[in-house]
Amino acid sequence: MQIDQSRSQFDRATEAAEWLRRQGAGGTSVAVVLGSGLGDFADHLEGAASIPYGDIPHWPASSVIGHAGKLVIGTLEGRKVLALSGRVHQYEGHDMETVTFAMRVLGRLGVPRVILTNAAGGISPQCSRGALMVIDDHINLMGNNPLVGPNDERFGLRFPDMTEVYAARLRAIADAAAAAQGVTIQHGVYVAVLGPSYETPAEIRAFRALGADAVGMSTAPEAIVARHMQMEVLGISCITNAAAGVFPEPLHHSEVMETARQVKGQFIALLEGIIGRL
Ligand code: HPA
Repeated sequence: MQIDQSRSQFDRATEAAEWLRRQGAGGTSVAVVLGSGLGDFADHLEGAASIPYGDIPHWPASSVIGHAGKLVIGTLEGRKVLALSGRVHQYEGHDMETVTFAMRVLGRLGVPRVILTNAAGGISPQCSRGALMVIDDHINLMGNNPLVGPNDERFGLRFPDMTEVYAARLRAIADAAAAAQGVTIQHGVYVAVLGPSYETPAEIRAFRALGADAVGMSTAPEAIVARHMQMEVLGISCITNAAAGVFPEPLHHSEVMETARQVKGQFIALLEGIIGRL
């Protein structure tokens, strides 16, 4: 979709938020952004209404296989939940404003917290294929920041603090939910890269030296924008493959989708446990 540049991002996000409010999205407790292959969570919401992204004013469409492109409004554990099945990435050719538009809409809707999920490559040994990793912090190596450009004070500060992007409170809730549901989780640092080519083994060695446990092509811009608007953020990576060079085999998107399919039961149980504890 072509962005209407004649109106500010604030006005476009506000219009989309008001439109969603008329569809029943007001009073949402948490929004969940579902990463590659993880969209099935949306089917677990009760009394769900599904809205194609194309129906929402100004909302961008994703072209990636495994990203459905719909927003689902429903309830889970008595809380109103918005599930965003599909996101857009910078590597698709979108600018950062487009990549983070959904976060701006959630902010304008008054959604207090967001759970960002993704598929990621595992760098550290505990982040092996099929592991679920709570993101403790990120390293943004995308070469870009979604807050570049004039700052709209109605969203937040020019220089927002990033000392606790991923809320300690929500990470502790994830630990409690994992223990209660019998799901094993890891914790670690997510390094965000532009993509769409996967990394070279030398890049992965460099990221390991920098302190990264998992690598992916999303999440950091959304987390930055959510924090700009003072939303609480939780991040969960599904480790769909060992990062490049960890094993000799080449990487393929089909492995990402296959692993996501295998772990989705645990992933959904974890999300349900977290949402029930909010
Ligand atoms: N690298 C980057 N992004 C990814 C990977 C990876 O290995 N797996 C899933 N998303």
